[in-house]
Amino acid sequence: MDGPSRKQLWDAGTTHFAKIFSDRRGFGKAHWQGSSRVSMQQTFIPVPLPQQTYQIAIASGGLTQLGPWLQDRSLQSARLGQKVLIVSNPQIWKHYGEIVQDSLAKAGFQVEHFLLPAGERYKTPRSIQKIYDYALNFKLERSSTLVALGGGVIGDMTGFAAATWLRGIHFVQVPTSLLAMVDASIGGKTGVNHPQGKNLIGAFYQPRFVLIDPDTLKTLARREFRAGMAEVIKYGVIWDLELFEQLEGCDRTDQYRYLPSQILTEILTRSAQAKADVVTQDEKEAGLRAILNYGHTIGHAIESLTGYRRFNHGEAVALGMVAAADIAVQLKWWSAEDAQRQHQLIQKTGLPTALPADFAIDAVADVLLTDKKVKDGKVRFILPTQLGEVKITDQVPGEVIVNALKGMKAS
Ligand SMILES: NC(=O)c1ccc[n+]([C@@H]2O[C@H](COP(=O)([O-])OP(=O)(O)OC[C@H]3O[C@@H](n4cnc5c(N)ncnc54)[C@H](O)[C@@H]3O)[C@@H](O)[C@H]2O)c1
Ligand SMILES: [Zn+2]
Repeated sequence: MDGPSRKQLWDAGTTHFAKIFSDRRGFGKAHWQGSSRVSMQQTFIPVPLPQQTYQIAIASGGLTQLGPWLQDRSLQSARLGQKVLIVSNPQIWKHYGEIVQDSLAKAGFQVEHFLLPAGERYKTPRSIQKIYDYALNFKLERSSTLVALGGGVIGDMTGFAAATWLRGIHFVQVPTSLLAMVDASIGGKTGVNHPQGKNLIGAFYQPRFVLIDPDTLKTLARREFRAGMAEVIKYGVIWDLELFEQLEGCDRTDQYRYLPSQILTEILTRSAQAKADVVTQDEKEAGLRAILNYGHTIGHAIESLTGYRRFNHGEAVALGMVAAADIAVQLKWWSAEDAQRQHQLIQKTGLPTALPADFAIDAVADVLLTDKKVKDGKVRFILPTQLGEVKITDQVPGEVIVNALKGMKAS
């Protein structure tokens, strides 16, 4: 199966970056808001879905504005009730909890918070149960709101709790990791892990609002920052050539502190827009949304074969993108020069491009076939055809995959 290319979608009048400047409601516009204390650049990206449109706000220092923005009827499609429960973890709460809680309280909300331990291993039904218990005690109602303040783990769990408590209460995402800002917080996938597999339990449930404050990245561990950058590079390759070129033009992309704030804001905006574009066109993963799995087919296999310890998700995706690029070049779908540009950008970002010498290539085939994204026994690959465009295929011969992986072994 070959999916539509970006060019085709573009020609068909897809929402794209330029369009955010002409949104009819007047959002989607970068503008300066002066106030007595702060002068803040804000960008609003609308995510128009059949049930509701919601906004993604990108604003440096925006955490202080969460309360007013949740009260702003021009930004909210529904009036939110008085009660708000913030779900976070202690690592994040110690930096940003008070700011968010104060902002909400000052705007008139009745706010409480509930902290779960940090880490993927707590992304379980048990943690959801704990959120339910707190919700019960706090007497959350249908009109109440759960706010996720944290990375993708907190976002996925809080979203699932919001989707299921009283059959669905309001949900707001305040992502604080780069991966959550550009990926996990947008698109409505929520859920928890089962002992037999990641994200096996879940629901599609859209937030009412997403607030991205780039300033929170200053406390994120460098390795986590680079992991998020893998997804940013992915959007450049699959969707947005200008984003890719912008990253190429940066002196360093491996640490938050080397990115000038305006560039960082633009990178976040373009990435969030890319994800919003794709999910708007394919909310429930019927087709196009699969392109977001670029680098993930082999990336997931690498994560699983190395016990989810050696590489984090972004690192595995970086390796998966290198492998996919090589496959595309072998099949003569993509030029070796462009694949090299991708390789260099991944390297500049401090992400791995080589597999460990002891990596069991033979085992990859078995893992590929057990992936939950496998359809009718066929492994689906997303392969670039040029920078900013990819195609979906299930016709990659096994030896081409093995060749690609062999070429990536550290000597
Ligand atoms: N829903 C989706 O569409 C989607 C997409 C991609 C990934 N995910 C999920 O997201 C999860 C991974 O997300 P993640 O990479 O954000 O991991 P994470 O939530 O575990 O966060 C990584 C670490 O960084 C810490 N952290 C986060 N923000 C911080 C900050 N500003 N300052 C200091 N520390 C901070 C967290 O406490 C955690 O220790 C996975 O469970 C994955 O399945 C979901
Ligand atoms: Zn990913």
